[in-house]
Amino acid sequence: MRQPHESKYVPALGFHWLTPLYDSVVAATTRERTFKQALIEQAGIAPGHRVLDLASGTGTLAVRIKQREPLADVTGVDGDLRILALATRKAERADVAIRFDNALSHELPYPAAHFDRVVSSLFFHHLSWENKQLTARELFRVMKPGSELHVADWGRATDVVMRGLFLVVQLLDGFENTQDNVTGRLVPLFEGAGFADVSLRRTFSTAYGTMALYRAVKFG
Ligand SMILES: C[S@@+](CC[C@H](N)C(=O)[O-])C[C@H]1O[C@@H](n2cnc3c(N)ncnc32)[C@H](O)[C@@H]1O
Repeated sequence: MRQPHESKYVPALGFHWLTPLYDSVVAATTRERTFKQALIEQAGIAPGHRVLDLASGTGTLAVRIKQREPLADVTGVDGDLRILALATRKAERADVAIRFDNALSHELPYPAAHFDRVVSSLFFHHLSWENKQLTARELFRVMKPGSELHVADWGRATDVVMRGLFLVVQLLDGFENTQDNVTGRLVPLFEGAGFADVSLRRTFSTAYGTMALYRAVKFG
C-alpha cells in the first residue's frame, strides 16, 4: 500500500520479515498488558458503542476490548493484509466477533460520524508528520459528535534513560517519523485536527522508552 506523502509504509516491527515475532517482542518489552488495559479503562467503552481500533496489527487490543465489552461493535483496520490474517486468527481463537478491514489510516472506508470510540496503540510513530495530520483529520471525520479518541504511543521521554532506550525504536521505525512522538507533538496534532480537551493522561516506563496515553474529544 502507498502512503500519500511519499514516505514508505512502516510495517509492525519495521520490516515485514519480523512481523511473525511481533507479539512476543511487544509482550516482552513494552508492558503491553498493563498499558493496553489502562487504555481500555480510559476509553470507557459501553454496550452498543461502535469502536474502531486504528492500525490494529495482530488484533490484541481489539480482542481485549471485545472480551471486556461483548456488546460493543468492534472493528479493526490496518494497512497490512499479512498482519490482518494474524489478527483474524487471533479473534477466531478467542471466539469473538471482530470485523477487520484493510485500509490506510488517511483514507478510512467508513462514513462520517460513525464511531463512538476510536482507540489506537503503537501506531502514530509509523507516520510522517503530514500523514499524521491527514490521519488525525480522517479520524475526526469518521467520529460522532461527542465521541472520544484514546491513543497509546511513544511519548516524550520522562528521563534520559527512557530517551536512550527509545533509540532502538527509532532505528527500527525511522528517526523522522518517531521524532514527533518524542518531542511531544501528538497533543498539538490532535488539536490541529479539530479535537478538544486533548490531554496526556498517563505515562509508563518500558524497555523501549516512555509509553504515553492520550485522550481527545470530538465535540458536536
Ligand atoms: C507497531 S504496530 C501496532 C499494532 C497494534 N496496534 C498494537 O498495539 O500491537 C503498527 C501497525 O500500523 C500499521 N500501519 C502502518 N502504517 C499504516 C497506515 N498508514 N495505515 C494503516 N495501518 C498502518 C502496521 O501494519 C502495523 O500493524
